[in-house]
Amino acid sequence: MKQSNDEGTAGLSFESNRLAVLGLGHVGLPTALSLAELGWQVTGTDSDTSKVRQVGSGCAPFYEPGLQELLSKHRESRRFRVEENVEEAIRSSSVLFICVGTPQQEDGEADLSQVEAVARVIAQNLNGYKLIVEKSTVPAITARWIKRTIQRYAPANTYVTKTLEQEESPMALQPSDGVHLFDVASNPEFLQEGSALQDCFSPSRVVCGVESERARQILTDLYRPLNCQIVVTDLNTAELIKHAANAFLATKISFINMVGDLCEAVGGDVTQVAKGIGLDPRIGRHFLNAGLGFGGYCLPKDVRAFIHLAEQHRVDFSFLKEVERINNGRVDRMLQKLRSSLWVLRGKRIAMLGLSFKPNTDDMREAPSVRMIGKLLQEGAVLQVHDPQAMPHMRQMYAEEEGRLTYCSSPYEAARDCDAVLLVTEWEEYREMDLPRLKDLARVPILIDGRNLYDPNRMRQLGFEYYSMGR
Ligand code: UDX
Repeated sequence: MKQSNDEGTAGLSFESNRLAVLGLGHVGLPTALSLAELGWQVTGTDSDTSKVRQVGSGCAPFYEPGLQELLSKHRESRRFRVEENVEEAIRSSSVLFICVGTPQQEDGEADLSQVEAVARVIAQNLNGYKLIVEKSTVPAITARWIKRTIQRYAPANTYVTKTLEQEESPMALQPSDGVHLFDVASNPEFLQEGSALQDCFSPSRVVCGVESERARQILTDLYRPLNCQIVVTDLNTAELIKHAANAFLATKISFINMVGDLCEAVGGDVTQVAKGIGLDPRIGRHFLNAGLGFGGYCLPKDVRAFIHLAEQHRVDFSFLKEVERINNGRVDRMLQKLRSSLWVLRGKRIAMLGLSFKPNTDDMREAPSVRMIGKLLQEGAVLQVHDPQAMPHMRQMYAEEEGRLTYCSSPYEAARDCDAVLLVTEWEEYREMDLPRLKDLARVPILIDGRNLYDPNRMRQLGFEYYSMGR
């Protein structure tokens, strides 16, 4: 993690160092706190006032390593504060980061109503220059729509800086003459849940899509302390970079999952294949872990949105549909292993270890465990589940039910008297588990490893009937 800029940001070249982050979710809150850590004065706001109050009281609304500590630190340093009144947060800041949700509609298209709503509020609260930075993941041309929305709903005499830069005598239009200026920029966030703060402080790159020199200058000043490569592009290109990155990562995962299935069919070890191909720098080792596939808020949604965008613009990107189809089949693939080892599932006691879509988060969005629990309950299995962080969220979807579903306080309790253990999320806690103890607690020592966490030879030596993915 980079050192905090305790001297603040004096000397930077834009007039106000007040930033507002609109939306305090998985992207917004880490962004706000990391900007505070870099030395900026940051105001956080959200249309959900209960969330604003929770954050204001010093309590992080979701689990993310280091987040709670950073929140406490910057409430104390007073570089981060919350504001319940969104309009006030906008008026008191000159750089506004839009971090609102962009959930997906049934047809795969992103629902941009929250982005539009916030753009309209900004339009009605322009008091001096504002740089409006889109950080939420959005389809290409959203920044253009934000700009158009602001122009439509702002008072007369509101201009984008670019217009002024193109004017022959820009000095003719001054904010003091009742003229409002703004810019829209696209600054997509690449942070991963579970390592969000680390990703904010040591990004592989920062992408800034801008239309004016003024916007470019502000964003490059803002991120200079990070000392990383800044890629400056136009608005659409920046948006496409984000989508293309996530679609490519998803493609890598589906690709290796197919290679894994082939390894099982012909006899091979997918983890060794991943190592063997990943050492080629043109391929790279990251995102080649075979298993249950990709979940979470971003990858599945972005793949669908990219497919939708391509269809809208009559570009044949059907190959991404295949990436999605492969991913959708992963849960069934694992359940098939369970069925073929247990024969009948009705009445069998199954331990499920891990519920969140990946380790170090309590996020359940598009987590394979959700579909898995649904299917197993439907087939009459009795479930004993455990997760280090995500159980409260899962309880909201599936309540505890005697004889059907029990939430357990440890992986050992989950394994007690079970007929099989399913390893669904690769939490470090499970990697370091006392496996002989787990085996002794289980009625039948079957372990199906959806994340290739354990060494097959060791598991067999310990006496497990062990199955993994692609080995
Ligand atoms: C992702 C992108 O990585 C990030 O850049 C973007 O800003 C948001 O979306 P995130 O959703 O936090 O981040 O999770 P990520 O670590 O990318 O994992 C996504 C899913 O892929 C998880 O379900 C994970 O288990 C799965 N995965 C990842 C694999 O199955 N195999 C791999 O090799 C890597």
